[in-house]
Amino acid sequence: MDRRQAITGHTKIVGVIGSPINHSRSPQMHNAALSKAGLDFVYVPFHVSADAIDQAINGFKALKIIGINVTLPHKQSVIPYLTSISHEADLIGAVNTLTFLDNGIHGDNTDAPGFLRAMNENNIPIPIGKDVVVLGAGGSARAIVVALALADVNSITIVNRTVPKAITLAEELTKKISKQYVDIMSKDNVEKSVDVTFDTNITGMGFDDKQLPEAIVNCAMLVNTTSSGMDESQPLLINQEWLQSETIVYDIVYTPPITKLLKAAQEMGCTTIEGIGMLIHQGAIAFEQWTGVEPCVNTMKNALLIN
Ligand code: ATR
Repeated sequence: MDRRQAITGHTKIVGVIGSPINHSRSPQMHNAALSKAGLDFVYVPFHVSADAIDQAINGFKALKIIGINVTLPHKQSVIPYLTSISHEADLIGAVNTLTFLDNGIHGDNTDAPGFLRAMNENNIPIPIGKDVVVLGAGGSARAIVVALALADVNSITIVNRTVPKAITLAEELTKKISKQYVDIMSKDNVEKSVDVTFDTNITGMGFDDKQLPEAIVNCAMLVNTTSSGMDESQPLLINQEWLQSETIVYDIVYTPPITKLLKAAQEMGCTTIEGIGMLIHQGAIAFEQWTGVEPCVNTMKNALLIN
């Protein structure tokens, strides 16, 4: 039966808001997983312009919508409407998932745990206590730096074309995360005199920094968050020779699935991780929150690959 004929007054609604929204691949991914799980839910894309967020949120409440994914330009503007926010989303300063509850709205950022889960799925260890280089200093980089810092990596070097953005992001997250850490320790009644150390050293630099080759040669993991990998005519942002075979290379770009950086890394014998995993897992975590059911990630992946 056509899925649309199965929609009744019992069907629960989830979806995504953004502007633009036509390009979003979340509906195909979520609807496939909802069908597979036999859940009477439908996932709908909603075009909501920047100035209509207030009406949209009130409308969702009135319509008893279960949950909403949030994409540009609303990831920050939804925060004032929340009654609770996850630890990660608070640190990142951006929300990509809303869950409508009887007593309010909960905000989450599933990009951070989704990034780590995609590693787990591939049996690739999180580089706890090791050094990581992150290319880019935009919204995705923020989520990934928070995820890695909370996972206790030793250092994160943020490298960006616009250098001040990398430096500011490193300083801002260092301050926020170390403060948060102290807060958590105090709440657990740990004596305030305890030497609380926040171990992840986060720094920012440009692509022409003299220390970049050494940082990449010595890192356990290199993550690309810049959109430059989407355009195959663009040159590599780094020198292929800096990649060591022990280095994990993770590109969060998923079109094309194997980016120029991943190809270069594979030629050097590196373990590589494709961006589709993070896309799937950030969605899977939202799916679980809304439905209480773990989705079939293979179904999500097939839906993305087919369409
Ligand atoms: P996202 O939410 O996906 O992170 P974003 O916030 O727009 O998107 O960030 C895009 C990132 O890709 C930025 O770090 C951007 O660098 P600038 O801050 O200098 O703009 C980076 N980026 C985009 N195109 C790039 C290119 N051709 N070369 C290098 N970096 C690029």
